[in-house]
Amino acid sequence: MKDRLVIFDTTLRDGEQSPGASMTKEEKLRVARQLEKMRVDVIEAGFAAASPGDFEAIRAIAESIKESTVCSLARANAQDIERAGEAIRPAPKKRIHTFIATSPIHMEKKLRMTPDAVVEQAVKAIGWARQYTDDVEFSAEDAGRSELDFLCRIFEKVIAAGATTINVPDTVGYNFPSQFAETIRQLIERVPNSDKVVWSVHCHNDLGLAVANSLAAVLAGARQVECTINGLGERAGNAALEEIVMAVRTRADIFPVETRIETTQIVPASKLVSQITGYPVQPNKAIVGANAFAHESGIHQDGVLKHRETYEIMRAEDVGWTQNKLVLGKHSGRNAFKSRLAELGIVLESEEALNAAFARFKELADKKHEIFDEDLHALISDEAVTPAQEHYKLNYSQVCSETGEVPHARVTLSIGGQESKAEADGSGPVDATFKAIEQVVQSGSELLLYSVNAITTGTDAQGEVTVRLAKGGRVVNGQGADTDIVVASAKAYLNALNKLYSCQAKVNPQGDV
Ligand code: KIV
Ligand code: ZN
Repeated sequence: MKDRLVIFDTTLRDGEQSPGASMTKEEKLRVARQLEKMRVDVIEAGFAAASPGDFEAIRAIAESIKESTVCSLARANAQDIERAGEAIRPAPKKRIHTFIATSPIHMEKKLRMTPDAVVEQAVKAIGWARQYTDDVEFSAEDAGRSELDFLCRIFEKVIAAGATTINVPDTVGYNFPSQFAETIRQLIERVPNSDKVVWSVHCHNDLGLAVANSLAAVLAGARQVECTINGLGERAGNAALEEIVMAVRTRADIFPVETRIETTQIVPASKLVSQITGYPVQPNKAIVGANAFAHESGIHQDGVLKHRETYEIMRAEDVGWTQNKLVLGKHSGRNAFKSRLAELGIVLESEEALNAAFARFKELADKKHEIFDEDLHALISDEAVTPAQEHYKLNYSQVCSETGEVPHARVTLSIGGQESKAEADGSGPVDATFKAIEQVVQSGSELLLYSVNAITTGTDAQGEVTVRLAKGGRVVNGQGADTDIVVASAKAYLNALNKLYSCQAKVNPQGDV
């Protein structure tokens, strides 16, 4: 019997700390449901004290998720822990993850606390957290640059106080696999009550070593890995869930552990997170990149055709790659539509939402005869912008673009229910449309990113556009999909503006005491 390796996903917390990756409550719920379907053990749903919006999102996830443990991060203070405890209350399985920095530089310069005071605060935090749940995780922030003796001391105390998981983060991605493995080995050996807890690691990728460090730690005795879909996360990101899971599974000869992850859900999860956050997946990314299973050279193709294992160590279908599958067409009815959504694991909250999505599906099927699973995902994403969030809405757009002429756009928007019109010239049809929208909205935001992707193949494919906007220190992503790229762009721009309109200021958990 192998040990279980607990997969702790922090896409919704550390992943969301990536610039521009902030998600709405509905988007977080969709990601959480996909993580549950993938059988992730623990979902870190957010940092409840960051903002009322974060609290609500964690609460909604706690109400909806039944199989995975729902966790909230909290700094080691009573107010944060109370918010976390309240947010996760409805979840059948719940965890509070509390942390405090332990490296000399963080204690002295950031916390301005003595090591003794840090130990005392950590012990108190565990006591507060245990009032809400028996499942309490403690992290020593910047453990990767902390003194081993101090880590042994603080860990012994928090275990005695009731922590059930001890997490060792390499917060700044400074560690090296053999050294990090030695740290974990020493901690497990030297902390007298180390057998009472699950040892966990949380590695950042600043030197490209997050996965290597995490796997080395597993070989040294760690039994929980904190990771994110596509390796999303602060700066260079966190360890990529898909790489950890597939390494452990593919090299079962090396690892004395197994996960309970349903690996066929990995690619759908990757696509969902990429689509929602606007962070594209590089084509040569392991496991989930578009080329990860593509054999370009003749020699490789020949080898794979003769015997797949000549060049493949994993099967594409085992991680969820499928052929573009024609699923529905213009004659498909509401029931066929509904059951395909169910097969894809897409749950719509109400009959009203289903009817609205079905109406959009019919519109799309008129323009595009073959509808693929990818089209359905995009259509539901568009639908996820609920009317409450849709302060700005596109009613009409027209663009004139002729060789040798300056492109000109006209738009009609509904703003909080009031209709407004504008027109503008631009250097291209998209530029003209954005300028016309900006004339009405006057958001004063800065465009940080504009990207277009074809959702499927063929010239009738829907274009999926991501727009990243910044205003007053806030960064948001908007998405829009349509067979008309200019309309998709206008939708994405308005989606981002809607997010700027509704989003509140947030506290970064690691930026403060
Ligand atoms: O990187 C880090 O140290 C963290 C902690 C809050 C676990 O994200
Ligand atoms: Zn982190």
